[in-house]
Amino acid sequence: MGRRKLVVGNWKMNGLLAQLDDVEAIGSVAAAHPAVEVGLCLPATLIGAADARRGGAFIGAQDCHQNGNGAHTGCLSAAMLAQAGASWTIVGHSERRQDQAETDADVAAKALTAKAAGLNVILCVGESLDVRDAGDAEAVVSAQLLASLPQGAAADWLAIAYEPIWAIGTGRIPTMEAVATMHAALRAELVSRIGDEAQGMRILYGGSMNGDNAAELMAIADVDGGLVGGASLTAAKFAPVIAAAAAAVG
Ligand code: PGA
Repeated sequence: MGRRKLVVGNWKMNGLLAQLDDVEAIGSVAAAHPAVEVGLCLPATLIGAADARRGGAFIGAQDCHQNGNGAHTGCLSAAMLAQAGASWTIVGHSERRQDQAETDADVAAKALTAKAAGLNVILCVGESLDVRDAGDAEAVVSAQLLASLPQGAAADWLAIAYEPIWAIGTGRIPTMEAVATMHAALRAELVSRIGDEAQGMRILYGGSMNGDNAAELMAIADVDGGLVGGASLTAAKFAPVIAAAAAAVG
């Protein structure tokens, strides 16, 4: 199918200038594994400086505003992030859906605005523990994907990240069978919406991915990489995840 593995660190609200050494070290690991596309979605304050030291990794943002510019104090536009050195952005992370009450419609609008500014996009979806326990996870996340998917969604600029909310930062992950079932369901949802284009679109797993579980997760047919929080904050932790993705390719 030829989907290049995509492994992206999400540093969230972590990282000062001292951590640029880790950016550089991760960039070197990325350069050593060209079969894998590696990126770091950083606090906006680090994007410019990180861009100069990114090596084989791309630098991304963690969110952008849905409008191109205007009276939105404290917000950043996609064009600003692109000009600072970002080539990707995350949209719709569950922490933003919760903390900033972002809706599916907001997320779709942000994705389109990012695309218009030349950014590639990682669109996040995922279920709560209540939904998982009720047995509704595939239906709820598929519906969330459908409602968040921007017009013109295409594999050359958009990737999906499936991140069960209860797995983020908790050290808990779903069973491999549950991940496989969800990713297959999301692929099917994409096919129903965008046809053959869906076969090339990367679907990442996120939520407590680390060097211990990455190989098993990356071996699942429809897992095309990972969105990694805590285990991306240092080169020592992130390198094994990147290596696991490379091994899954090889
Ligand atoms: P985690 O975060 O790897 O620390 O669980 C993943 C994410 O929220 O993207």
